[in-house]
Amino acid sequence: MPELTETASFLALQYHAKQVPSWCMRTLFENDPERFKKMSLSAAGLFLDYSKNLLQPETMALLFALAQERGVAERRNAMFRGDKINLTEQRAVLHTALRVPKDQALILDERNINADIHQVLARMAQFCDRVRSGEWLGHTGLPITDVVNIGIGGSDLGPKMTTQALRAYTHHRLKLHFVSNIDGHDLDKVLSTLNPATCLFIVASKTFTTQETMENAQTARQWLLYHATRELSAAELTARHFVAVSTNTQAITAFGIDPLNMFPFWDWVGGRYSIWSAIGLALMLAIGPEQFNAFLGGAHSMDQHFQQAELAENMPVLLALCGFWNRVLLGYSSLSIAAYHQDLYHFPAYLQQLDMESNGKQVSRSGQALKVPGCPVIWGDCGTNGQHAYFQLLHQGSDIIPVDFIASLRPNHTLPGHHETLLANCFAQSEALMHGRNADEVRHDLQAQGLGAAAIAALTPHKIFPGNRPSNTILMEQLTPATLGALIALYEHKTFVQGVLWDVNSFDQWGVELGKVLAKRIQSQLQGEAQPALHDASTNGLIALAKSMEKSPLGTRITE
Ligand code: F6P
Repeated sequence: MPELTETASFLALQYHAKQVPSWCMRTLFENDPERFKKMSLSAAGLFLDYSKNLLQPETMALLFALAQERGVAERRNAMFRGDKINLTEQRAVLHTALRVPKDQALILDERNINADIHQVLARMAQFCDRVRSGEWLGHTGLPITDVVNIGIGGSDLGPKMTTQALRAYTHHRLKLHFVSNIDGHDLDKVLSTLNPATCLFIVASKTFTTQETMENAQTARQWLLYHATRELSAAELTARHFVAVSTNTQAITAFGIDPLNMFPFWDWVGGRYSIWSAIGLALMLAIGPEQFNAFLGGAHSMDQHFQQAELAENMPVLLALCGFWNRVLLGYSSLSIAAYHQDLYHFPAYLQQLDMESNGKQVSRSGQALKVPGCPVIWGDCGTNGQHAYFQLLHQGSDIIPVDFIASLRPNHTLPGHHETLLANCFAQSEALMHGRNADEVRHDLQAQGLGAAAIAALTPHKIFPGNRPSNTILMEQLTPATLGALIALYEHKTFVQGVLWDVNSFDQWGVELGKVLAKRIQSQLQGEAQPALHDASTNGLIALAKSMEKSPLGTRITE
């Protein structure tokens, strides 16, 4: 693959971007009344308006040429075909296979993986029906009331985000909890609310070796054995209250979970792409197999759109190109996600892993240093809360930060009035970012309020909004399992396309490894093993400080 900076379309884009400081989005809208119509599209139940970006028709033409030159379509086809595009781990990348309907064969290494996928889905559905109907009983014969998903990263964020997002669809009896952090406060907070007789733990880990998940799961099991009635054996208690989701059968058995209570998935599913697999068990328990199927269906519709639509009419491609233009050509270093739907509360955190763990890389697939700015920082919160916190900086700060606004046209509640107010705020924010308020407009307002000349002169600079700040707006009719599935798949494919443009491997995550190795070494030092000072002066000093603390009796395990 040639260097990005040496391709004809990238050089043309760089030259073209030099004109941007003279562009005014307000004027672009005034000059072309069709701009909104031309720069918006619908797909898979979603609507994308990308007209409030600093883009002209020529920019789009150059961006499409870049997508072609970088081989977006070919690389997309290779992913869907099951080629081993995760080069550093020699793995296929087939999360899209997890949402293919039952009747379509999918051959990988001479095996119809769609049969395997649907076999696991059927087992999950059977299990969920038993728990939801009250047939699955805890050790005292009571139905399950609380489900605790223990996992981290993709084994937490996916189930947690989606379960929250589809709160309106959740089973009336089941309460879902998520424990991810090794910080004991996380598990302690959940355990303190549980009845050991009616809780069910899902240990979710692709590798079943992740330190946080293993330690939390061990502690949860000890807690259960300690609090449960003593007539049953540890194996019987574990079988009633623990199930596991993983690619690692051996480790699950070693942990003591009955293989019958295990739901497998495969190494061609990346952690941050795993919500569609058995990692979605907590979601399926919450919303039921039928709605889970609708969730897969929504994602599959977006997959089909991504595979079939021309680049210029392809929503994930357009979202990716806008983001690439903003980051690489205009130099905007972060992207804020403003979810105007309280139930999408965890969506920014979910996208942080999806995007930054995928594309937060410094070298290309062939190991060459990237010569352009890489993946932006993704961050955000729910609207309207963000408006009363950091939106000040978005409107008047010295950095330009593009925003993705996400909203549903209809709410999942019946409270009168709130939704119109919410949408009004959402649309007002993108208008304000784009339109701004110039000095003349500010002076005119202040005069209308009856202020004198001196006060107007003093206040004017503070009240100017520069405007010209880019945003996308993504709308859906309502937040349903299908539209949520499509929304996640949209961002998955956007991330994929950007990875192709940068030519990075979006499917490994070596950057998380060094900290894990060092933490193990430091842990053994903190636990008292006498070792020479192994680190820099700062790290040695911090370890010494921590060791100088008296061990709190609360720090001992509950069964000790
Ligand atoms: O440390 C990063 C990571 O490997 C993520 O990619 C993954 O989602 C998370 O840890 C959890 O991994 P596992 O599901 O194997 O416990």
